[in-house]
Amino acid sequence: MTEYLTVSADDRSEARSHVIKLHGPEGFAGMRAAGRLAASILDALPAYVVPGATTGEIDDIVVRMTVESGGVPATLGYRGFTRSCCTSINHVVCHGIPGNKVLKDGDIVNVDVTPILDGWHGDTSRMFLVGDVALKARKLVDVTYECLMLGLEQARPGNHLGDIANAIQSHAERHRYGIVRDFCGHGVGRLFHDSPEVIHAGRPGTGPELRPGMIFTVEPMINLGRADCKLLDDGWTAVTRDRSLSAQFEHSIGITDDGCEIFTKSPSGLDRPPY
Ligand code: MF3
Ligand code: CO
Ligand code: CO
Repeated sequence: MTEYLTVSADDRSEARSHVIKLHGPEGFAGMRAAGRLAASILDALPAYVVPGATTGEIDDIVVRMTVESGGVPATLGYRGFTRSCCTSINHVVCHGIPGNKVLKDGDIVNVDVTPILDGWHGDTSRMFLVGDVALKARKLVDVTYECLMLGLEQARPGNHLGDIANAIQSHAERHRYGIVRDFCGHGVGRLFHDSPEVIHAGRPGTGPELRPGMIFTVEPMINLGRADCKLLDDGWTAVTRDRSLSAQFEHSIGITDDGCEIFTKSPSGLDRPPY
């Protein structure tokens, strides 16, 4: 049974499984500002995500922009993560750790940022194409973006999380791609990772019903090959088992009376490549 709880804007209660927070106008305003900052950080990155750049340099830009805007990077020190964004290249599915790794021509890379602004978490990621990228990889990136947006089209009161999942799954499977099951979207707000768990493959009409005030991420990870992942020894980096390419896009959204508000839409229309 799903429980819903109407929360005030200053509610700082921890995640409780099965309790889904319903946020009011102040929560939406907080997420709007944090989401806009997150999107504008990604907007600044195309000039830096180029052959020869390191993922550590990208991380430096993310920290600087976050702090200059009065924010704090949520991943910095989060459960032992030591960087301010995730950089996931090629067969890395998610949670790649920025460092000395050099980007090369033809790579595809996801950059995932989460600035905290006035206590609210704006969580979003996009794919970037490094130099000349092969058609097969570009197609994967395009379809993954379409999966996210088809999922969001289902985000409205009365629908269920399973409707979002099914829209994503149907589109990915139409292209014979693997949909990662090991990682999910999540409630977001004053907490980075809150209830509910937002799956990316599932049956229509199943799972919690969507209600106005729910705030969560949708962040499908789609593989060119099989869905299976494994974790590297660093304890964070998730890769495809078959080493096939993986792509991901993420938005933070709020359910409104008649649909959803996308908090992390690019103010400059740079939501998907080419930038
Ligand atoms: N931003 C990621 C998400 O979408 C979480 C990253 S947690 C980290 O949920 F510790 F790996 F950075
Ligand atoms: Co997320
Ligand atoms: Co994220």
